[in-house]
Amino acid sequence: AQKIIIDTDPGQDDAFAILLALASPELEVVGITAVAGNVPLALTEVNVRKICELAGRTDIPVFAGCDRPVQRPLRTAEHVHGATGLDGAELPDPVMKLQAQHGVDFIIEKVRSERAGSVTLCTLGPLTNIATALTRAPDIAPRIRRIVAMGGGLFEGGNITPAAEFNIWVDPEAATIVMGAGIPLTIIPLDVTHKVLTTKERIAAIRGIGTRLAEVSAGWLEFFERFDEEKYGTDGGPLHDPNVIAWLLKPELYDGRLCNVEIETESELCVGMTVVDWWGVTAREKNATWIRDVDADGFFALLTERLAKFG
Ligand code: BDR
Ligand code: CA
Repeated sequence: AQKIIIDTDPGQDDAFAILLALASPELEVVGITAVAGNVPLALTEVNVRKICELAGRTDIPVFAGCDRPVQRPLRTAEHVHGATGLDGAELPDPVMKLQAQHGVDFIIEKVRSERAGSVTLCTLGPLTNIATALTRAPDIAPRIRRIVAMGGGLFEGGNITPAAEFNIWVDPEAATIVMGAGIPLTIIPLDVTHKVLTTKERIAAIRGIGTRLAEVSAGWLEFFERFDEEKYGTDGGPLHDPNVIAWLLKPELYDGRLCNVEIETESELCVGMTVVDWWGVTAREKNATWIRDVDADGFFALLTERLAKFG
């Protein structure tokens, strides 16, 4: 199985990424690191443990990472995810322990100790933990197999400002470090996730699995879609983060292009914007595979089938 570290700020859609990974034998989740993003770190790390317990996977080591962006104050998204970050279903306080090690130290140590080129980083939130690890331990960069990141937007613009997507906007300096690290990189932007909509039919199919996990999942999806449905006028909201995991499992569901991606950090109007050279109009180095298209029915079939694997 392919070894992955999930770096995350749950977030209902983060929860689906974690569940999809834990349900998939093709992947071995060697650890999950929490970061501040949708809600503060004190909540995201608890949410990760709640999700692991819901999945019956108290064996997964969970770490708390950075509690604020590398240079900026933290800005959160309770208006989307609710006060807890996981509104929409009631889950008990987790019993499983948080690891004592800092999430950044775990990433550094794990990448150094595993075979070079064997660990993939899956990022579902601001890139603070990854950037901090790369700054502190540049030797890990060539040992990382790939980073698959949810973030940015080109054809769809932004979702937190007209120019910027939330994960990049929260910590644009971290994103700059990650984009420039020379690590193979796949980016799942809003251009993809805005096509992956939680329609009533798709939620009904998940609820129809009939387990407690399925009921919790449907509750999350119903909460999460409220915000986006009102905003975008669609049937259902975009389910962003699990596309990172689905791309690893079934890349044939996705279509994209290797191109240059840079992050705007200076301009007040455009801070956090992903500047993507989709048409190759510069000679700048092609540093990321930018995904643009997805088979959304194929994605939901995969997600629903895997969620049904939990008892
Ligand atoms: C991203 O921001 C968060 O609100 C979601 O969890 C996702 O990672 C979408 O812009
Ligand atoms: Ca997220």
